[in-house]
Amino acid sequence: MEKVDVKIKATKETSYPILIDEGLLDEAYDYIKNCTDANKFLVVTNTKVYSLYGEKLKNDDAEFIVLPDGEEYKNRDILNKIIDKALEIKLERKDAIIALGGGVIGDMAGFAASTYQRGIDFIQIPTTLLAQVDSSVGGKVAVNHKLGKNVIGSFYQPKLVLADTNTLNTLDDRQFKTGLAEVLKYAFIEKSCNAGEDYHLFEFLKENKDKIYNKNHPVLQELIKICCLLKSSVVNQDEKEKGLRAILNFGHTYAHAIENITDYKLYTHGEAVSIGMKFIFDLAAELNLITPNYYNDAIKLLSDYNLTTQLSINIDIESFYNAMLSDKKVKNKAINFVMPVKEKEVSIMNNIDKKLILKGI
Ligand code: NAD
Ligand code: GLY
Repeated sequence: MEKVDVKIKATKETSYPILIDEGLLDEAYDYIKNCTDANKFLVVTNTKVYSLYGEKLKNDDAEFIVLPDGEEYKNRDILNKIIDKALEIKLERKDAIIALGGGVIGDMAGFAASTYQRGIDFIQIPTTLLAQVDSSVGGKVAVNHKLGKNVIGSFYQPKLVLADTNTLNTLDDRQFKTGLAEVLKYAFIEKSCNAGEDYHLFEFLKENKDKIYNKNHPVLQELIKICCLLKSSVVNQDEKEKGLRAILNFGHTYAHAIENITDYKLYTHGEAVSIGMKFIFDLAAELNLITPNYYNDAIKLLSDYNLTTQLSINIDIESFYNAMLSDKKVKNKAINFVMPVKEKEVSIMNNIDKKLILKGI
């Protein structure tokens, strides 16, 4: 089993383990009961994940709420249903909510846990690659509003993350690649994570593509561990995104605009991120911020992993730019870009000429 301990520097008492292994779901309550004094659990999941893995979490102390599947259900109506259910089953302050699913379920269940009775214990059981390497770690929890994604939320750390890599066996190729986009993101920002150790993620990805695509579990576990070590290092230094944490949005300035103008329907989040990473590498090359060698290596890695790097539709450039301007990270109309500046190193930049920003679109 792989283990990563997440610690938050600013709040010394906050720390929790991420456990990564095959088959963790079969003994989930053994691990959960080590991390919480809860007597009762509300398992939040969706129809698809429930049909695949719900049985494994059934227990005399657990009640379930099974939600419809999809990003369009990550909203306040569904959040209210979780809260209603918690009240109905008389979940008490020392009880806990368990999120069983991908990032949609994790974000929504976490937000419910952060507000129910002013905050109860919360356990993440991520079942997508994206959730295992990114969304289940670091405490960002939220729901969407029709005017913006993740605009209603909070920072609320779980008590435990259980990443059972067996769940990745049932993930379809498209969702697996969506997670890989976030994995490659960590390779491009590794040095800026200040993790105190070099995990050589870029090289690991170059060497292990076939094993990763064949879902070789020891390799997947190592991969997830490295991503969690990098993310937890960033979150440790800057939990509330006052500065450094913004680097986790590498490629996301373009990605959020792509998702926004396509109504969150055409591309998965990871597909938008891989297109966004290609655009940002093009922009950095145009500005001579990176060497041609590094540019070629980075683009080759994206292409070796068969990630989507081009828009498949014609888009209106002005609408695209307006979508970038309406992102919640924009301050005083300055669009912030997490820009590659050296190998595996990034820096936040703004005041970039609009023509250059839009050149590659
Ligand atoms: P998702 O939760 O919608 O899951 C993708 C699809 O896979 C869904 O249909 C789901 O039912 C299905 N699924 C889940 N586990 C499965 C399994 N083991 N086998 C087969 N199918 C399975 O999407 P996601 O990509 O996991 O997460 C995207 C969400 O995460 C977005 O809402 C995004 O905003 C959020 N996010 C949050 C953070 C954060 O830091 N909190 C970071 C990145 C993304
Ligand atoms: N996924 C971005 C963050 O956690 O900050």
